[in-house]
Amino acid sequence: MSNPRTIKQVIEPNQVIEGAGVLLRRSISPNRENLFDPFLLFDHFAFNDPIQGPIAGFPMHPHRGIETVTYMLEGSVHHRDSLGNSGLIGSGDVQWMTSGSGIMHEEMPRRSEQGNVFGFQLWVNLPADLKMSQPRYQEVTAETIPMVEKDSAKIRIVAGEVDAVNGPVTEIAANPVYLDVELDLGASFSYPIPFGHTTVAYVFEGEADFGVNAENRGQLVNAVHLIEFNDGDSLQVNTTPDSGVRFMLMAGAPFKEPIVPYGPFVMNTPEEIQQALVDLRNGTFVKT
Ligand code: FE2
Repeated sequence: MSNPRTIKQVIEPNQVIEGAGVLLRRSISPNRENLFDPFLLFDHFAFNDPIQGPIAGFPMHPHRGIETVTYMLEGSVHHRDSLGNSGLIGSGDVQWMTSGSGIMHEEMPRRSEQGNVFGFQLWVNLPADLKMSQPRYQEVTAETIPMVEKDSAKIRIVAGEVDAVNGPVTEIAANPVYLDVELDLGASFSYPIPFGHTTVAYVFEGEADFGVNAENRGQLVNAVHLIEFNDGDSLQVNTTPDSGVRFMLMAGAPFKEPIVPYGPFVMNTPEEIQQALVDLRNGTFVKT
């Protein structure tokens, strides 16, 4: 690992309102420039004020051409969809939804007993030949997400591999790495990532030196920020004696295909977006 990745940029998440008035921190959003290919969107929802009462969620809405990954750390999300599925994504659980040709679903966050909701939603692109594939879900409960503990690090593997341990979410077109990494004070984490793979980290607790280079120097980044890394063959993160850190690490090979995003759809051409809207109007959006 002779080419450690350094920091390209540190992004301040935008506060946006989505669904029925849900306030989110959004640090990646679908864009024709496709700057984070194969990743399209990264949202962080955090509500910690129980006196604000029930949280408005995301009533029935369509998706086409993408995969969405919901990872809850506190509270839960009740979901139901046009395939007849329904259930609760609880604390520590993951739901990986492949919208393929089309799905209609509802996602309604619920507070934990302490009154909190804390989670993330990542959108991963589908390549052109799978955009109209069969929709499906992979539901993963917290107990089945493996955790590797080493060198003062706890690494929960949603997707990808750490020390020959594989995450439970498989058969994802982009074959991404999606890790929840927690480091104690004075810890060091290094991880091989092939050249050419898009690599971002979302820091949501504490702070650390990210993008540590061959001279053992990095850049201190604190929560809450998204970091984009330059190309390289590995990533190193060191915590200081003063603070631990927790971050989501995402990495994957870009598809390098043109994209046309339109709300909950991400297709390759404007005509395919038109077709999605026609299908919605005609009631033929969800294929049976
Ligand atoms: Fe959705």
